[in-house]
Amino acid sequence: MQKTMFQQLMTSPGTISFRKIPVPKPGPDQVLVKIIRIGICGSDIHVYHGTHPYTKYPITQGHEVSGEIAAVGQYVSDFKVGQKVTIEPQVFCGKCYPCLHGKYNLCEKLKVMGFQTVGTASEYFVCDASKITPLPEKMSYDEGAMIEPLAVTIHATKRYPAINKAKVCILGSGPIGILLAQSVKAFGASEVMITDISDTRLALAKKVGADYIVNTMKEDFANALENNFGPDKADVIYDCAGNDITMNQAIQNARKGSTIILVAVFATMANIDLAKLNDSELDLNTSMMYRHEDYVDAIHFVNEGKIQLQPLMTAHFAFKDYSAAYEYIDSHREETMKILIDVDSPED
Ligand SMILES: NC(=O)c1ccc[n+]([C@@H]2O[C@H](COP(=O)([O-])OP(=O)(O)OC[C@H]3O[C@@H](n4cnc5c(N)ncnc54)[C@H](O)[C@@H]3O)[C@@H](O)[C@H]2O)c1
Ligand SMILES: [Zn+2]
Ligand SMILES: [Zn+2]
Repeated sequence: MQKTMFQQLMTSPGTISFRKIPVPKPGPDQVLVKIIRIGICGSDIHVYHGTHPYTKYPITQGHEVSGEIAAVGQYVSDFKVGQKVTIEPQVFCGKCYPCLHGKYNLCEKLKVMGFQTVGTASEYFVCDASKITPLPEKMSYDEGAMIEPLAVTIHATKRYPAINKAKVCILGSGPIGILLAQSVKAFGASEVMITDISDTRLALAKKVGADYIVNTMKEDFANALENNFGPDKADVIYDCAGNDITMNQAIQNARKGSTIILVAVFATMANIDLAKLNDSELDLNTSMMYRHEDYVDAIHFVNEGKIQLQPLMTAHFAFKDYSAAYEYIDSHREETMKILIDVDSPED
């Protein structure tokens, strides 16, 4: 095996360099993963633009990832060299109240690889074996790198336990909204209506199974909700856009006594109608990241063909072209869903 490798490093917003460092050796309970694919998401883009509130530079990015086991530590018996895997990027303390109660996604000291601790954007990556989840052999590395964002929406689906046969409205048809549309369907939702202000993005939602698409720049949201679902409207409304407009649409139009789940991360303090929220006795719920069981379910549904990831893959870039990937995203915002970095592509 090679002795040195390249590691991506964002030294300041918008500036990416590569440094040559020794290939790390796994400790006794660790594995070494040969990284094959990395996905870029909205949070990475915030880091690129210097608008991520919880990231300091320099930082090695990468948290949506797939690869294969290259070496295992002496006490690791669950994995073997050559196995196809993904890495769960949460680094948690294991001692705080949420951790001790199984909710390590809410760890009081949570760090996420690629944001507060070193990410996976290097040719090889060493981590604790407990962070590794195997991927089925027939799953592509591209799909494997998209299990992370899918796990976000699987978790969000479970935040509404009555999802089976539910009528679901999703605000925002970005990657998260579209993956959520598929996730709620996989868990038995009867009908899904999804909104956006981009026809391009709505067309993709339709392609992967949304029953009703609504461009709220052209159609009145309240009318669309009743036309599609009838007078009882939606059982649950998910906000995957995250602005005052969408959150107030949800609050103003939710059936009384129903549920709203905020998945999006608000960029600013919200200005929302809490009096109406109260008057309608709405359950306002939230969803943050995922846990291992969400990875397992995400892999299961993709493997069964119940959730399609391929239609969301926009373009690939070579590892050395990481900067070009961000430049492409900035100039193709609306059409870009998922950009994948081929870490295994030749160096030059
Ligand atoms: N909770 C979590 O664990 C978690 C994890 C990952 C991402 N997120 C968040 O989820 C959100 C969605 O992520 P994404 O990658 O899909 O982002 P995105 O920006 O690609 O998608 C948001 C979509 O909302 C649409 N939109 C904007 N204003 C709208 C309006 N008034 N009505 C309808 N649609 C509107 C946009 O056109 C866009 O298509 C982001 O806020 C992201 O930070 C949360
Ligand atoms: Zn991500
Ligand atoms: Zn903790």
